[in-house]
Amino acid sequence: MTERTLVLIKPDGVKRNLVGDIISRIERKGLSIVALELKTASDEVARGHYAEHEGKPFYPSLLEFITSGPLVAMVLEGHRAVAAFRQIAGGTDPVEKAVPGTIRGDYALETQYNIVHGSDSPESAEREIALWFPGLAG
Ligand code: CMP
Repeated sequence: MTERTLVLIKPDGVKRNLVGDIISRIERKGLSIVALELKTASDEVARGHYAEHEGKPFYPSLLEFITSGPLVAMVLEGHRAVAAFRQIAGGTDPVEKAVPGTIRGDYALETQYNIVHGSDSPESAEREIALWFPGLAG
C-alpha cells in the first residue's frame, strides 16, 4: 500500500554531517522523497510534533534539543513507507533496540540523541505532514 511518512534528520544528525548518508539509505531502500526542507523548528511546531510526550520527564529537554539548530524535514512516499523507514531507522533506544546496520544502531548512543524521527503510523504521518508541510496536507 502506497503511503507517506514524515521523517526528521534531527539537529544531531545535521551537526554530525549525516544528511547525505541518511538520504542515501532512504533512496537505496526505494522510498521516494516528495518534500524536503532544512529548517529550525519553532517552539510551536516542536510542541505540536511531540504533543503525545507532554508531561514525560524527558519532554523539556526533548523540546530544547529539537529546536536547538537546523534539522531536515522530509516527506517520504512508497509501499508501506511508515514501517519501511522505521526499519532502516532502528528502534528508539539506539543501543538496546536498534541493531547495527540501522541508522540509530550505527550512529547513536543515547535515546534522546537518536538522529532521526519517523512517524509511528499512517495517521501520525498525516498529522505530522500537516504540521511540517502545511501545503502538502490531505
Ligand atoms: P522520536 O522517534 O523522535 O520520538 C520521540 C522522541 O523522544 C524519541 O525519538 C527520542 O528522541 C525521545 N525519547 C523517547 N524516550 C526517551 C527517553 N526515555 N529519554 C530521552 N528521550 C527519549
